[in-house]
Amino acid sequence: MSRPLNDLLGKQLKRDVFNKMGVLVAPAAALLDHMLLRILEAQGINLTDEDVQSLPRAEGRPKKKEQVLVEESVEKITDIFQEIFHTKQIPMNTIQEQVIPKILQATDHPNLFVLFSSLQAKDDYTYRHNIGVGVISTMLGRWLGLKDRELSELSVAATLHDVGKMKIPLDILNKPGKLTAAEFDLMKKHTLFGYDMIKATAGTNHRQALVALQHHERQDGSGYPYGVEAGKIDFHSRIVAVADVFHAMTSKRAYRDAAPFYMTLREIYQNGFGELDAKIVYVFLAKMMQSLVGNEVLLTDGRRGHIIMIHPHDPMNPLVSFGEETFLDLSKEPSLKIDQVIV
Ligand SMILES: [Fe+2]
Repeated sequence: MSRPLNDLLGKQLKRDVFNKMGVLVAPAAALLDHMLLRILEAQGINLTDEDVQSLPRAEGRPKKKEQVLVEESVEKITDIFQEIFHTKQIPMNTIQEQVIPKILQATDHPNLFVLFSSLQAKDDYTYRHNIGVGVISTMLGRWLGLKDRELSELSVAATLHDVGKMKIPLDILNKPGKLTAAEFDLMKKHTLFGYDMIKATAGTNHRQALVALQHHERQDGSGYPYGVEAGKIDFHSRIVAVADVFHAMTSKRAYRDAAPFYMTLREIYQNGFGELDAKIVYVFLAKMMQSLVGNEVLLTDGRRGHIIMIHPHDPMNPLVSFGEETFLDLSKEPSLKIDQVIV
C-alpha cells in the first residue's frame, strides 16, 4: 500500500525510482529529505514501505557539541526554508530565536576540524549550505574582531544569503545537468529576489539585504548581478563570499578521510586572490592552518611529518618535523607540498 510521502521523511530509498516516462528521478540509497519528497510528489510518484528503509544508526562515539548544534540548525533551517518557499515570507523571529543562537554557540571556541566536517553536505546541500555559510561567516566575523551585535547581524545575513533561491522554480534549482544560458540568467536573479525579500522583512536592516544582493560580486568586477568592483562591495558581503565559495567547494568534492578542507584551502590560496577579498582570505587560511598545528601530514614525496609552526607570511607552507630533531621548512622547499592532513 502506498504511504503519504511525508511519512517517509528521513528514510532511505531501497531502489532506483523512475517517473512515468522512465526517467530516473532518484537513485537507490538516496535520503528522502523535504526537497526530494517534493520532487516525487510533483512527479506523481507513490512509494510503499517496500521501497524504503530506515537509515542505519551511527554506532559508537557520542556526537560532539559542534556536530549537535550544526545538525539541529540544519533541521530547523530546512523547516524554515520550506515555509519561505510556500509563503515567500521570512519568519525573522524564528530565525533569531532558534537558529542564530546555535550558530553563535557552535562558533564559540570550537574544534574547527569537527565543526567544518559537520558542515560538509552529504545529499542535503540545498539546506545545509545555508547553515554552512552562516557558520563559516560567523567564524570569520569572530576572527576579524566583530563585536556581538554586528556578529549576530552578519550571522543572520549569511544564513539568508541565498533566500532568493526560494523564488527560483524547482526544476531549475534542482536541475542535475548544466543550466542553459537563460536558466542561468534566471538563477542569478536569486540575488535580487533575496535583496527584495529581506528588505520587505521587519527586523532586518539594509546591510543584511545587501549581503543577499552582493555575495556573488567579485573584487575584480567579474561577479553578478551588477559586476561592481571592490570599493562598492560591503564588508559583510565580502565575508559571505569567502564562506560561500569555501563551503561550495568542500561540499562538491569527495575527498577521502583526510582533512577534506586542506585541498580546498590550497585551491582558495592559489585561485581566490583577485576575486575574493585578500585580507579576509588571508585571515581565513591562516586561522584554518593554525588549527592544524600538531596534526600529522603526508607530503608530496611520501614522507609523513607533523605541522609544528605556521609562518604568518606563508600559512600554506608550514614548518614540519620528522621525529625529534629533523625539521623541514616547506616555505623554503617550492617543490614539496602537503598532500593531505592525516586525522
Ligand atoms: Fe548565492
